Amino acid sequence: MELNSRAIGLLIGLLVSVITTAFLFLIDGINNTILLTAFFLSLSSTYILVWLVLEFLFFRHIDNISEGFDKINNTESQITDGLSNGTLLNPLKKINKEIFSYAENKQREIAELKKMEIFRREFMADVSHELKTPIFAAQGFVHTLLDGAIEDKKVRSKFLKKAAKSLDGLDILVHDLLTLSQIETGEIKMHIVPFNLIRTVEDVFDQLENKAIKKDIAFSYQKKEDLYVLGDQRRMYQVFLNLVSNAIKYTNKKGEVTIHFDEKDDHIATTVKDTGDGIPDKDINRIFERFYRVDKSRSKEKGGTGLGLAIVKHILEGHNTKMEVTSEVGVGSSFTFSLQKAKDRPIEEDEELYDE
Ligand SMILES: Nc1ncnc2c1ncn2[C@@H]1O[C@H](COP(=O)(O)OP(=O)(O)OP(=O)(O)O)[C@@H](O)[C@H]1O
Ligand SMILES: [Mg+2]
Repeated sequence: MELNSRAIGLLIGLLVSVITTAFLFLIDGINNTILLTAFFLSLSSTYILVWLVLEFLFFRHIDNISEGFDKINNTESQITDGLSNGTLLNPLKKINKEIFSYAENKQREIAELKKMEIFRREFMADVSHELKTPIFAAQGFVHTLLDGAIEDKKVRSKFLKKAAKSLDGLDILVHDLLTLSQIETGEIKMHIVPFNLIRTVEDVFDQLENKAIKKDIAFSYQKKEDLYVLGDQRRMYQVFLNLVSNAIKYTNKKGEVTIHFDEKDDHIATTVKDTGDGIPDKDINRIFERFYRVDKSRSKEKGGTGLGLAIVKHILEGHNTKMEVTSEVGVGSSFTFSLQKAKDRPIEEDEELYDE
């Protein structure tokens, strides 16, 4: 039974009228008509009184408060939806639960905001630091030239080259930051279509082969018939470029970098494997964070910004997949991710796909 103001009024009314009638019954000379009249009079007057008091001083205010909470909690009103449908026995219980769920949500929001604030501060510090390094370097070279070194032909070209290198690094850093923020804000949408995984790997291979040759690294990929998967071809090219260039970068001379494919039911898993430095266990989960580098000084000297894997992670999230990493220090690392097989073939293959 629903415990509303009418039901409470009726219950208290019945109780009061039964007690009143019982007392009257004990008095001599009171007949049944008087008893009956007293019963109905006390029942009706108590009922009206209790109903009025509860309805206007109590339930209405509780309903107003409850409606207010419903409005505030509009998006997170799963609990309050269940409470506001009138089937609850105790209206105070209902308001109590609503206040509790409201406070809980607010607490969660505050914790989230605090976390974001810490993250924002750390990110700002990292960005400033990363920007400062190439700017200071380029500034140093230019000032040295202006202070007289420009007269020496040999020094001039050496310093200009160094300044240009620092500015190129700055350009890559800003470009990576922009890509990250555009993926996060949804400005870059994944354009998921069928594409040929093998062709993308071949393109990455062509692009990075020279770097591998320079380090005498055996760089190969498992030759296969065309493999069609669903994804954003341009972004997946970026993923491969990041993974393979890391593999080459963090592998010593005469090492090995291989890419192979593993066909499962409706997925194709791709693995980029190297025989390089490896990643310590404590760092494995952190390498996808922005600016995180296992060995800061060594990675910097190899020209990394520490944003490559953060971008990779976001792109894979946009494809509803994620990276699995296994690594052993001194032995090597392997990075694996899966993409869904495509049922259809692409309508046409775009030659200019990777030019930006
Ligand atoms: N194949 C790998 N072998 C060993 N360490 C790796 C490998 N891939 C990544 N790492 C470690 O993870 C860190 C983060 O990689 P990430 O690609 O994000 O940054 P980066 O290579 O330093 O710079 P960027 O890719 O932006 O040029 C690297 O600095 C390196 O320490
Ligand atoms: Mg990298």
